[in-house]
Formats: sequence, structure tokens, C-alpha cells
Amino acid sequence: MVSLPGLPQSIFGLIFGLYFLAIGLWMFFYSTVIKINHRYVILSLAQAQPGERLLDVGTGRGLLAIAAAKMGCKVTAIDRWSHWDLSGNGREALEKNARDEGVSSIEILDGDARELPFSNESFDIVVSNFVVHNIKGAENRARAVREMWRVLRPNGRLVISDISRTSEYVRILSTLTDDIETKRFYSTFPFSRVVVAYKKDDRSRTRPQQGTSVSK
Ligand SMILES: C[S@@+](CC[C@H](N)C(=O)[O-])C[C@H]1O[C@@H](n2cnc3c(N)ncnc32)[C@H](O)[C@@H]1O
Repeated sequence: MVSLPGLPQSIFGLIFGLYFLAIGLWMFFYSTVIKINHRYVILSLAQAQPGERLLDVGTGRGLLAIAAAKMGCKVTAIDRWSHWDLSGNGREALEKNARDEGVSSIEILDGDARELPFSNESFDIVVSNFVVHNIKGAENRARAVREMWRVLRPNGRLVISDISRTSEYVRILSTLTDDIETKRFYSTFPFSRVVVAYKKDDRSRTRPQQGTSVSK
């Protein structure tokens, strides 16, 4: 076994063991507790209100879609159901989770984030959690971000939460709006950053009051 110079193997093993135990506990706590609360943090950054039309891009097993439907939003969820990106992924898994949480109103569609099957300005809110970094190639990721923006109505909010590549999304969105905020989260596994972009209504030049403070 490889060991650091001067460090007895048993100590070295103990440090490694504790490190992996801590990671395992953090993963377990995130997937069972933190994730369930964090979805409401994301929806609060989106300022989701009952009755608003919300699109969850790359919904997977429906983490955000189900929470939004419970809050009274009219939810559409879309995914290409990659098993590589998420184990047990699929429309059936989402349907089961929705049933378990007493939700029956979600519209579920098969589709690709890079070519969303909706007309321009169809949604009040577009959210996407831990999805875009999975798309290979910067140009493909840019297409996905631009598509999310295209289907957002004026005064709408786009919220992209991800574990990497978020500077890329900020750069793309900066060409579309000057109203972007970001917030980092160190409680998620892995750490994540949320990008919130507001689509200004050029007619009124206003945006809704924020419910949660976020930093640039
Ligand atoms: C890590 S999972 C996250 C699922 C869910 N958003 C959540 O927070 O639990 C990533 C999801 O993105 C989906 N995905 C990846 N690339 C996609 C694309 N180009 N279009 C639509 N969905 C995509 C995968 O199928 C998978 O369901």
C-alpha cells in the first residue's frame, strides 16, 4: 500500500476511511433530507407562485416538477431520460414519485433541452437542476440555455442550478439580459451554483419583487 512519507500506514488508512465515511454520510444526508428542502429554495429563487406555468427541463424523477405542482404551479416536465445521468431514470419513476407525493397534474413530455417543443414565451418560469453540465459540447449547452430563454415569457424567470459550467451559462445569458444573479450552495452534493436570469418586459421595464436575496 502507498503511504505518505513518515505517516504510519494505519494512520493513513484511518484518514482515508474517515474521509470516505464523511463523503458517504454527506451524500446520504443530501439525498434523503437536504435535496427535498433544496428544491423549495430553487423554486423560491424562481419566485414561483400558484397558477404560474412552469417548465422543468431535465426533470428526471421529478424533483422540482413535483414540488412546483405541490405549490400550485401548472407544471410541464421534459426529459430525454438518460440512465447514464441518473439511475432509475424514466417517466415511470417520475409518475410513481408524483403519486407518492399526491400529485397528478404534471404534463410529462419526452424531449431534448436543445430543441424544446414549445413556442416562444410559453412559460412564466423555466427551471433546470443538475442537467446542463451533462450535455456534451459548449455549443450544445449554449443551445439548451438559449432554448430555455426562448420559451420564457417577458417578466419570466429562468433558474439553472448546476454543479459545474455555470460561468458558461452566465456568459450566454449576459448576451440576452443584464439582469442575472447567482448564488452558491455548499449544502448540496456536490456543491452547486444557481443562476437566476430575469426576462425584462421591454414595455414596462420592471421585474417582480424578489422573495429571496441573492448575490451577484
Ligand atoms: C442528474 S439528473 C437531474 C434530474 C433532476 N433535474 C433532479 O434534480 O433530480 C440529469 C437529468 O438531465 C437529463 N438530461 C440530460 N441531458 C438532457 C437533454 N439534452 N435534454 C433533456 N434532458 C436531459 C437526464 O436524462 C437526467 O434526467
